[in-house]
Amino acid sequence: MNSTTTEYNVLTLPIDTTKIIALVLTSIISIFFFTNYWGKYNKSYNKNSLKNEPIEKSKSGLYGNIPEKLELIPQTDFKWDQIDPLKSYPFKNGIYKLNMGIKNLNYQDWLLIEPTYLNRIENKFKIINNCHPDYPIDKDTRSSTLFITDEAYEAVIEFYNIVMNYMLVKYPTCFSSNETEITNLITNESYPRFGKGINPLKLQEYLVENIEEDFIILLKDPTKIHEKNGEEYFFKAGVFAFAAGFDPLERFNKPLTFIHERIPGYVEKLKLSMNKFFNRISSNQFVTRSNWSIQSHNKFYVDDNNKGHNLPEDHIQKPIPYNEMKFNEYYYRSERQVLTKLPKTEAIVFTIRTYLIPLSEVKAEGKEVRERLIGGIKGFPEDIARYKRASEWGPSIIQYLEEDN
Ligand code: HEM
Repeated sequence: MNSTTTEYNVLTLPIDTTKIIALVLTSIISIFFFTNYWGKYNKSYNKNSLKNEPIEKSKSGLYGNIPEKLELIPQTDFKWDQIDPLKSYPFKNGIYKLNMGIKNLNYQDWLLIEPTYLNRIENKFKIINNCHPDYPIDKDTRSSTLFITDEAYEAVIEFYNIVMNYMLVKYPTCFSSNETEITNLITNESYPRFGKGINPLKLQEYLVENIEEDFIILLKDPTKIHEKNGEEYFFKAGVFAFAAGFDPLERFNKPLTFIHERIPGYVEKLKLSMNKFFNRISSNQFVTRSNWSIQSHNKFYVDDNNKGHNLPEDHIQKPIPYNEMKFNEYYYRSERQVLTKLPKTEAIVFTIRTYLIPLSEVKAEGKEVRERLIGGIKGFPEDIARYKRASEWGPSIIQYLEEDN
């Protein structure tokens, strides 16, 4: 009712009516205040994550282009071989805690080109084509690293379109296009502009030639709902070429819990929060987490010897004496992982960017990094130390990092 047309003077109203009006006014004010405050809160909370943004219609009408609301700034002066790579040093000087450890990430920072680009693509290409010189000629690394299921076809096409467009828009000095093709200006190879109508396995091989990141596509599988952990997300497609101590084939087409079961404490400490998070993540939200470890060689694909649970049952992990360590053969390894959900198919995508650098380079970073890394190694609980084989390399690596030369 408009106040100018009010028939009664408030003061003359019966007491109950006054109370009701006061109540209504208070409610209106509260609702106004709450929605305003909540809007602001949500805005700042979502600054990076773009959570709760509506699912956008793609620009081209072909699903899988970059949604309009995700801002991507073209790096017009970008020189791919001259930029400083990211320093992926997530270790903390303190007790290791098994938790999600995720942070929101700007869309702008999702997929990266760094001076390692050609080298990593070349390594990955050889691994998925069974011709990497680091592995025996009869080892089938392709079957262990390149995966597809029928149910993931649409998601792979959507992912291909999003990724190729992302690279094109973000890196105009590295990619160009016409209506039908995208050309990678670093490798001088051309690829289809859109994935529709192309075999998704082939699309994944194209992606290997264009991005440094491995990628895993996860979907729910209604046909497995009655199996153990069958309500979880399943690893349904992708490229897992830089596996860090497991054979990805054993984890393919399996739910999250099966994939992580061998990590000490996973079921008790992580399973619940991880499943909740996977069920909650919204389309176009980006989150990141990073891990780290140390390995005694520079191999990218490792399916055996850098995780404790791959060792024979009777193997007792003992510290390797300092004088038996070949420190120049040790490498620091870190994965920068990003999770997002595709808008159309609602598949969850997990991208993994692997940093593998000589341990001596990390040592040369200076006191702060060295001390933090020493603190991180000392902070492993016993079960995690065994999982990462730090019970063997840990004590001597600590000594090496403590030395000044
Ligand atoms: C928020 C998401 C995730 C979290 C919090 C998480 C957590 C972890 C943790 C704590 C580990 C132990 C090593 C490390 O610190 O990284 C691990 C290992 C691993 N994760 Fe995840 N993970 C996530 C998503 C995924 C996804 C989507 C896959 C898809 C396949 C995956 C596959 C693996 C594999 C294969 C290992 C090695 C397991 C082993 O050594 O047996 N993770 N993950």
